[in-house]
Amino acid sequence: MTVKLSIIYYSSTGTVDAMARRAAQTGEKLGAEVRLRHVAETAPQEAIEEQDDWAKHREEMEGEPVAEPEDLAWADVVLLGTPTRFGSSASQLQAFIDTLGPLWQEGGLADKVYAGFTATQTEHGGQESTLISLCTAFMHWGGIIVAPGYTDEVKFADGNPYGAGKVTGETTDLEEPDLDAIDHLVTRALHVAERLAG
Ligand SMILES: Cc1cc2nc3c(=O)[nH]c(=O)nc-3n(C[C@H](O)[C@H](O)[C@H](O)COP(=O)(O)O)c2cc1C
Repeated sequence: MTVKLSIIYYSSTGTVDAMARRAAQTGEKLGAEVRLRHVAETAPQEAIEEQDDWAKHREEMEGEPVAEPEDLAWADVVLLGTPTRFGSSASQLQAFIDTLGPLWQEGGLADKVYAGFTATQTEHGGQESTLISLCTAFMHWGGIIVAPGYTDEVKFADGNPYGAGKVTGETTDLEEPDLDAIDHLVTRALHVAERLAG
């Protein structure tokens, strides 16, 4: 069986984008069919232009495929990624989630494997609350939440049993514990989906 993996995410300045790309690479290496989709930007252009990093990343994303509800309908495994915004997910990702009502109503979000990833600037900056907020949506959808827990020793390095999380404090570059945590999350989610398909 080829597992279908959709990675749906928002990123202002590229950190979550790098995490999403790593997740996609790992998924492909493991033989999954992968869709990597960023959600549409909803912030006013003036706000984006005031911040060089944000404007630069928007330019880099020109022409990249934008998430549609069908990308969830298609998938066996869905990973949602978002920067942390005051302890919760970014409004851009939430705006996309808010378009999923019709798909939810027809049962198109249920029985899939779900997991989340995030980035914060600070170590205690709200990764858990952000990831739990994603889980709230997964529960409404009848999703099968795959928590990484501490099911591998790499999780003792990133210390996040709720999902994968990058702290950008020292550097926005993904470091070994970040990469390991993403790889572990993708691997675990794909294996659970394979076992469910039986
Ligand atoms: C409006 C706003 C709110 C933020 N809130 C938090 C927060 O609650 N905790 C934190 O540690 N970082 C916070 N940050 C920092 C971002 O979460 C962090 O820089 C993230 O890694 C950026 O990801 P990106 O590069 O994918 O956009 C906030 C940033 C912005 C712009």
